[in-house]
Amino acid sequence: MDKNEALKKLHEKWLRECICELRKTATQGVPGDGSAYSPIFFIGEAPGKSEDLEGRPFIGAAGKFLAEMLESIGMKREDIYITNIVKYRPPNNRDPFPDEISACKEWLMEELALIKPKLIIFLGRHSMNHFFPLEKISAVHGKLLIRTWPGLGRQHFLPLYHPAAALYNGGMRDTLKKDFKKIPQILQKIG
Ligand code: URA
Repeated sequence: MDKNEALKKLHEKWLRECICELRKTATQGVPGDGSAYSPIFFIGEAPGKSEDLEGRPFIGAAGKFLAEMLESIGMKREDIYITNIVKYRPPNNRDPFPDEISACKEWLMEELALIKPKLIIFLGRHSMNHFFPLEKISAVHGKLLIRTWPGLGRQHFLPLYHPAAALYNGGMRDTLKKDFKKIPQILQKIG
């Protein structure tokens, strides 16, 4: 089966079966979006208001900023794959709780196992701390991390600040843009 077709089926299954408590308050689940053949796999935090209404990740202000940064390195949204660690909007966009992250984690692991990206990019601390619980995003943003992860093997990870956090903070915004520009050379380096 084509990988995009398999990915569609994977999302259909989890949209039916995910046991996240946030289903009670969210409008709908927001599955990952993009090409199953992408070498880059972005992981954000959770859907916001626009994403909850439309059922697609990163279509609001943070998504527009992300699209600008992708353009700055000669890429388009269709070239990448993007998903969230939690697939349902938390009420009033509060931080996701550990049990909500846990309820959605198998969904994420299946997306990763199917796509097998070269590089996993964390957007913000929530997705990074799922894989690297002891790291601080302020210390490791823009640095390539390598780790063997069950089900994924030896994997490359790049933590970045979350575009929503950087949108209204000039210093963080400049840092994120600078870190983002490292993506092409990192991809080349890891082959
Ligand atoms: N912020 C996220 O982390 N994910 C989205 O889908 C939108 C905003």
